[in-house]
Amino acid sequence: MPKVWATSGADLHLELTGPRVRAGLEVALREAIRGGRLRPGLVLPSSRALARDLGIARNTVADAYGQLVAEGWLATRQGAGTWVADRPTSAPRQVTTTSRSAIHVRYDLRAGVPDLSTFPRTAWLAATRRALSAAAFSVLGYSDPRGLRQLRTALTDYLARARGVVVTPDRVVVCSGFAEGLELLCEALRARGARTVAIEQYGHPRYRRLIEAKGLRPVDLTVDGGGAAIDQLAHADAALITPAHQFPIGVVLEAQRRRRAVQWAADSGALIIEDDYDGEFRYDRQAVGAMQALAPEHVVYAGSASKSLAPGLRLGWLVLPERLVDEVLAIKEQLRRLSSSIEQLTLAEFITCGGYDRHIRRARLAYRRRRDRLVAMLRREAPQVRVTGISAGLHALLELPPTESEVDIVARAAAGGLAIDGLHSFCAAADGSRPALVVGYAAPPDYAFTTAITRLCAVLPH
Ligand SMILES: Cc1ncc(COP(=O)(O)O)c(C=O)c1O
Repeated sequence: MPKVWATSGADLHLELTGPRVRAGLEVALREAIRGGRLRPGLVLPSSRALARDLGIARNTVADAYGQLVAEGWLATRQGAGTWVADRPTSAPRQVTTTSRSAIHVRYDLRAGVPDLSTFPRTAWLAATRRALSAAAFSVLGYSDPRGLRQLRTALTDYLARARGVVVTPDRVVVCSGFAEGLELLCEALRARGARTVAIEQYGHPRYRRLIEAKGLRPVDLTVDGGGAAIDQLAHADAALITPAHQFPIGVVLEAQRRRRAVQWAADSGALIIEDDYDGEFRYDRQAVGAMQALAPEHVVYAGSASKSLAPGLRLGWLVLPERLVDEVLAIKEQLRRLSSSIEQLTLAEFITCGGYDRHIRRARLAYRRRRDRLVAMLRREAPQVRVTGISAGLHALLELPPTESEVDIVARAAAGGLAIDGLHSFCAAADGSRPALVVGYAAPPDYAFTTAITRLCAVLPH
């Protein structure tokens, strides 16, 4: 029997049909939004209020809300309730291809993004308030291209303590994420006459493109279980590597190769760029400190808040050899690329008051639990899949049986609204390696994680 309910807050006039209450509630809400009756921005009653009015369990309402948030019909924010999302009132688009822009992503298991729902909003706002209250007027003008002294000092303490980086505040340059840092370094290398940059055979295609766009030629380094093949560096002018956790294979650059790499840089005058993109997230193994500490005059250490806090902050940092500081600053000055003073002050305060460490500790624990759940579910549901690269970071490598097609699996997942990447999308040349998936387990909010993994298991060989 259809029922009509008036709720406290917005009057939703929902009609639930069918025997399953939660499914009925989801259908009713979806239809009301699709039909335009519940308009974007309309704040829904709290799950408690709606449950009381409907005489059903609060969890049922919360689960239905959570599902519709994951599907994009509703939006939510801690402290601000749940409202109808700002989206077209037509049905979600059907999937016809696997292209990124064409799929309607309900579950995102792509590597690269942390769980944005756990961004420490309250602590961040409190840090902003404290930092801004104490700031001199001058801070709000065009600031030092190195970045604000407060942030460079806070980063100096933090990087020395947490990553073993050899650093003083005058060697730190704050930039708009690692991407800008790499851009500045490529400009500086080009100005010095460099022509080639060695990069790992597997890596993010955006960095290969960036290097090419700056007029430098990327040269591939093979990657195996010990990390990048350092003996292939010979003729490069610089090298970009991910020693603590190769992206996306997930191995650590072995100690002997680290030593050989810095020896090569010292002997040839070449520069190593150490991309320490997820260095804070270590789980099972002993701490792997920054390689920069072996040769601070030959290695640029590059870090970012994109994994530890959120990519939207656009905050990253370079720790430069002395000989490069002026060159990089001159380029930065010329481009007038300054990061927001308020965000810089806030991060400085957040680090200094211990909020950053607390957030990292909490996040590390949460991601470790997710990783364990992912591994346990795969062991149970997809025993043919070999999971590697899981001792650190926010993603895992799922090696598939050789007869499987990476492309087909990615397409099947996309058809169900699940975004994942095949390993070969991180490799410019056909390398003949086994098919594999790169699964980022950090991005989904908690309530969507289990469903995302269940959907993943459903498209994997059993
Ligand atoms: C390999 C690698 N390095 C660095 C970063 C951080 O980039 P940014 O600081 O520009 O957001 C990422 C982010 O996805 C990455 O995948």
